[in-house]
Amino acid sequence: ALRASIFHMMRRPAGPGDKDAYEYLSDGVLILNGPRVERAVPYAELTAEERRALIFEDLSGCLLTPGFVDAHVHFPQIGMIGAYGAQLMEWLERYTFPAEQAFADPDFAREAAAFFLKELLRNGTTSAMVFATVHEVSADALFEDALKRGMRLIAGKVLMDRGGPESLLDGPDLGREATERLIGRWRGKGRLGYALTPRFALSCSDAQLAMAGELFSRYPDVYLQTHVSENTGEIAAVAELFPDDVDYLGVYERHGLVGARSVLAHGVHLDDGAFKRLSASRATIAHCPSSNFFLGSGLFPLAEADALGAPLALGSDVGAGTSLSAFRTMAEAYQTAQLRGRALDPLRAYYLATLGGAEALGLGAHIGNFEPGKEADFIALDLAATPLLKRRMDTAHEIEDILFSLAILGDDRAVARTYVAGALAHNRDARDAPDA
Ligand code: GUN
Ligand code: ZN
Repeated sequence: ALRASIFHMMRRPAGPGDKDAYEYLSDGVLILNGPRVERAVPYAELTAEERRALIFEDLSGCLLTPGFVDAHVHFPQIGMIGAYGAQLMEWLERYTFPAEQAFADPDFAREAAAFFLKELLRNGTTSAMVFATVHEVSADALFEDALKRGMRLIAGKVLMDRGGPESLLDGPDLGREATERLIGRWRGKGRLGYALTPRFALSCSDAQLAMAGELFSRYPDVYLQTHVSENTGEIAAVAELFPDDVDYLGVYERHGLVGARSVLAHGVHLDDGAFKRLSASRATIAHCPSSNFFLGSGLFPLAEADALGAPLALGSDVGAGTSLSAFRTMAEAYQTAQLRGRALDPLRAYYLATLGGAEALGLGAHIGNFEPGKEADFIALDLAATPLLKRRMDTAHEIEDILFSLAILGDDRAVARTYVAGALAHNRDARDAPDA
């Protein structure tokens, strides 16, 4: 049992001040039962007998929240984050494709996968939907390491058969064989899931997209991740390559790739009609604000997409995104909304980063909050992690103000501990932490 402040979302909030949408315990106890949550209760409600029987760890001063869910990120891009001066298409050619070629080497891929997952945990992110590269071994490396750490992770090998260097292209036959081998090896093992990963319309022939659609309908528990409508130059190129489709989203719809297990990154320039189609199909848009700023892609119309019922989640989109921290992603989502004349309220932001993200990935029954029986993936946040954060907390009395200022000022320094399935997976203050 951990004694600390506790905050978690119980459902999607209706707006700021929706107190029924969350639970906040200023002096709470999170009781664990092995890898699962037993329950979260106010300390004052424990009986004398329970206080005697439980083994307490005192984390007073910390705020316990569910681990963050990153709905869109590229692990092979972790080493080329912050590459200067280009928008999407040039950025892919100049920096991304060259960096991804190194993942043909299994040793290189294994080292990068371990580094990436440690970074996720150091940032308090316990689940993610992740792109590997086109190389089968890159996905193996990531799954192997995530399995070892017991993480709930969804990932897939990239499918691309055009629009890149020869060494990064697979083609429908090779792509299908490698994908089916990976599904066989990893899907459902431990807490892992598989996502079919056609990179985007510009890197896939119709045959490749059709193959992905066949696999998507053949494997009912497999996900699909891709990119859509990110950059205006990209969108113009898609319209030229696929003149018969109604729009960018229509290319994926025609191949049966848009459904409840689909996560499409960006969607910056989608129109109302497309958001309505996403609402009907229950496909999720992963809003990736730091990437959209960094590549100059544009301002995602979150309030409009929300109003039309499109399912949403948040993604870091590293290495076009500039941070793995969900605090940074929430802050940039807020700033994107502000530039469109709207505010993103903190309850909605934390919901998207935890329970909402889990629900968007079809994992709402397993993770996302502290409901009894859920998997105990959570973090302990240090509200005095920096002098400025500590000072700001002197004036933050309401939980919504605490959460908002933490999102604006916080980063990995505020994550004191990360727990995966009830076990400590990162301890910021451990001096002799094993370099697992
Ligand atoms: N579109 C196709 N590939 C990528 C990628 O790696 N990153 C981003 N941000 N967009 C893409
Ligand atoms: Zn991406």
